Amino acid sequence: MMMLLKQKQLVIREATQEDQRRLANLIHFGSYVHRHLDWRQPLDWIGYQPFELAELNGEIQGALACPPDPPNVAWIRLFAVSQSATTEQVWDSLWTVAHDKLRALNGTVSVAVIPLQSWFRRLVELSDFVHSHQVIVLSWKRKPIPMGRERPGLVLRPMLFDDLPTVEMVDAAAFGGVWQNSRSCLEVAFRQSASATVAELHGQIVGYQISTATPVGGHLARLAVHPGFQGQSIGYNLLRDMLSQFERRGATQVTVNTQQNNVVSLSLYTKLGFERTGEEYPVYQWNIGNTA
Ligand SMILES: CC(C)(COP(=O)(O)OP(=O)(O)OC[C@H]1O[C@@H](n2cnc3c(N)ncnc32)[C@H](O)[C@@H]1OP(=O)(O)O)[C@@H](O)C(=O)NCCC(=O)NCCS
Repeated sequence: MMMLLKQKQLVIREATQEDQRRLANLIHFGSYVHRHLDWRQPLDWIGYQPFELAELNGEIQGALACPPDPPNVAWIRLFAVSQSATTEQVWDSLWTVAHDKLRALNGTVSVAVIPLQSWFRRLVELSDFVHSHQVIVLSWKRKPIPMGRERPGLVLRPMLFDDLPTVEMVDAAAFGGVWQNSRSCLEVAFRQSASATVAELHGQIVGYQISTATPVGGHLARLAVHPGFQGQSIGYNLLRDMLSQFERRGATQVTVNTQQNNVVSLSLYTKLGFERTGEEYPVYQWNIGNTA
């Protein structure tokens, strides 16, 4: 005889600052935990909506954070399930509430996720997220750095905090879709950077790069040139300057992630001696439209 186990009803509510300690435990000891490759720690998103918790008898069973940042892009920053809960039930309960909250916002929101583990990939596929593209990893391993290219009026200099409003404009013009960054995200990235450079053409910021330190060298986290100035060797000069900085520090490796279909950046990275590592990650998306 088949026994049907009735699932207990989970209570869904917003995470608050009082949940910090228990959420930290969930992330540390949970049996299934997805964390976005993020500038911020997962708990830094408490207070932003949606950040939902699933509880049973007052015990946290799971958490889902996917607040929009910038307003039209909501990366899944955290999904964690406790050892005593089932991933499907927790995901379905939390995603239903988070989805409704995102739909209630004005405008269109693209929900995006890079599910690194297969259990999470299966869940998002079951929820009709669509695989949109792959992110691939490339690395530079102390290959000779070619000479800079002459570009009259071009000056590269270290980025200053006061440059961020202009850097944000360049970034927003250069990147589309789920790859846009908010000002606050750029601020966090800048504070964590080991190398951050702007490219000025006749005194106007037209491009920038932000890189972080890694145990073996560096990671190029962001590179953008304003579309009105692309194709003029600005990205090339920014990239070779960044590599020279890390080379002088003794870096043995500099990595970068890019979209598999980003023909321009792949051509540029290859030109400067980057090679594919074979590592790649899938990006899944769900577009929530609101015509209100
Ligand atoms: C990628 C990016 C930074 C390149 O900067 P750029 O200043 O336009 O590039 P450059 O003029 O320095 O070109 C350097 C190389 O890139 C490649 N490239 C540039 N434009 C290209 C194009 N339209 N088609 C194909 N390859 C191109 C070429 O290999 C070129 O070398 P070449 O001049 O010897 O042909 C810029 O296009 C950009 O901001 N794109 C949007 C944001 C982005 O994708 N960033 C990287 C994501 S990780």
